[in-house]
Amino acid sequence: MARMKTIANIKDLRNYVGKEVTLQGWAYNVRSSGKIVFLLVRDGTGLCQCVVEKNERTESFFETVKKLPLESSLEITGVVRADERAEGGHELQVTGFKLVQASPEYPITPKAHGIEFLMKHRHLWFRSRRQHAILRIRHTLVDAIRRFFNDNGYINIDTPIFTPAAGEGVSTLFQVDYFGEPVYLAQTGQLYVEAACMAHGKVYCFGPTFRAEKSKTRRHLTEFWMVEPEIAFAELDEVIAVAEDFILSIKDRVLRDNRAELEFLGRDLKALENIQRPFVRLSYSDAVDLLHGDKARQLLEKDLNDKNVRLSQLEKELGTLVELQKSAAKQWEKDKAAQREIEIREDLEELREQLKNIPHHLELARNFEWGGDLGGSDETIISRLHDQPVFCTHYPRAVKAFYMKVNKDDPRLVNNFDLLAPEGFGEIIGGSQREDDYDMLLTKIKEENLPVEPYEWYLDLRRYGSVPHGGFGLGVERTLCWLCGLKHIREAIPYARMMGKIYP
Ligand code: 4AD
Repeated sequence: MARMKTIANIKDLRNYVGKEVTLQGWAYNVRSSGKIVFLLVRDGTGLCQCVVEKNERTESFFETVKKLPLESSLEITGVVRADERAEGGHELQVTGFKLVQASPEYPITPKAHGIEFLMKHRHLWFRSRRQHAILRIRHTLVDAIRRFFNDNGYINIDTPIFTPAAGEGVSTLFQVDYFGEPVYLAQTGQLYVEAACMAHGKVYCFGPTFRAEKSKTRRHLTEFWMVEPEIAFAELDEVIAVAEDFILSIKDRVLRDNRAELEFLGRDLKALENIQRPFVRLSYSDAVDLLHGDKARQLLEKDLNDKNVRLSQLEKELGTLVELQKSAAKQWEKDKAAQREIEIREDLEELREQLKNIPHHLELARNFEWGGDLGGSDETIISRLHDQPVFCTHYPRAVKAFYMKVNKDDPRLVNNFDLLAPEGFGEIIGGSQREDDYDMLLTKIKEENLPVEPYEWYLDLRRYGSVPHGGFGLGVERTLCWLCGLKHIREAIPYARMMGKIYP
C-alpha cells in the first residue's frame, strides 16, 4: 500500500518535528555548495529551508533542484528538524521532490528593481516577502475594523457604489454612464449610512470609494477602502471618543497578530506601542497658531539641514558603488552594488524632491491664513510636532462638506475633526457631527450650489425624527501606511489605482 503523505503548512512545522511531511509551494531561493543544495521554499504561510543532500534517495532529483529556476512550483517531502538558526525555526531534510512546473527565468530577481517595474509586475511582486507581509497586515487590519464595530453593537450596512449625487465635493467625482444618465462612483457611503443609523442606532459601512484625484501624491488613490460608522444621539465629543477607542483597538490587534511582519518591515514598534489615550485635541485655530509658530519653523529648518547631510552621504556612496561596478571586483559584489545603486537613486530622487518642497512648505505654513483648509504639508507638520495622534477639530465651515453641523457658539465653524496619525503620517480619519436641522441643511446644500432634488431623501432624515448624530470615515490604506511605516500608499492596497495607473 502506498504511504499516505502528510501535507503541511510551513507555519505549522513545529508540530511535525521528527516527522516526514510534504510542502506545496514555490522556489524562493536556491543556493548550492557541492553535494548539498539549500532550497528556500515559500508556501504562502512562511518560508522554509529545504536541505537536499546528494545521496541515493535524492539522486533522481538532485540536479533538477540544484538548477531550479526561481518561482518554479513544487512539492517537496522531508523530515522536519528544529533549528533555531533556520528561517522560521525549522528546516526540512529532503527525501522526495516533485516538480509541478518549471518557471522560465523569473522577471523579479533578487537584484533590486525600480518602483515602476515592480508596480507593472504587481501580480508577481505579491510574492516578495515585503509585499506578503504588508498584505497580511492589511488582512488583520480589515478584520480588526469589522471586529471592533461588530463587538460594539454596530450593524453593517452596505451602501451603493453608483450614486446620483456628490457626497464629498464635486471636484473629485468620477462620472459614469448609467443607461444614458450621468451618475457618479461613490466618494463615501456616509449619507446612506446616516439613513440606516436612524433605523438601527449604530451602523457602519465598509467598502471601496472613489475620488478623481488629479494629482499623484504618496497619500492619494483614486480607489480606496473606507469604513464609516454612524451613531445616533451622538455629538462631536462622543464620536471622537469612539474614534479613539477604535484606533487603539486596531493598533493593538495588529501589534498582537503581526509582530513578525512589522519587524520584517523595519517598523519602529515602540512608536506604535507608546500610543495611548488620551490623544491630543487641538482646535483648527490652535493648529493655525502652531503653523505660524517657532516650533514649526525650527522643525522644517532642521529637516532641511538633516536632508542635505543625507543627500551628500548618499551621493558619496553612489560614487563609490559606480566605481566598484567598473572595477575588477567579484561578480556578486558588483551585483550587490547594482542593487544598492537602484535603491540609492530612488532615495536620492525622493530626497531632492523633498528638499525642493521644504522651503515651499515653510512658506505655506508661515503664510497660512485662517479660513483655508489644512493641506498635506500642514498636517504633516502638526502631526510631527506631537507623538500621539492629533484630533484637529472645528474647521471653518467654508472649507468643509455641506453635511457638517454648524457650531452653535461660532457659526463660522463646524463640529468636525480630522485625526492625524503621528510621525508625519497625516490624516487617516475625517469625521463630524452632522447637520440635523432641516433649514440649515437646505441652506448649506444651496450655498454649495448643489441641486436639491437628489438630496430630497437625505432631507427626509431631518423631516422625520431628526436627532443629533455623527460619525467618521477611516481610510484603510492611509491607516496601513501608518501601521506599517510605508512611505507611499501604492504598497498599501493589492492593486493601486492612481492617476495614470490602471495596470495590472
Ligand atoms: O475626510 P474624508 O473625505 O471623509 C469622508 O469621506 C466622510 N464622508 C467620512 C465620514 O464622516 N463618514 O475621507 C475620510 C478618510 C480620510 O481621512 C482618508 O483616510 C481617506 O478617507 N481618504 C483617502 N485615502 C486614500 N486616497 C484618497 N484619495 C483619499 N481620500 C480620503
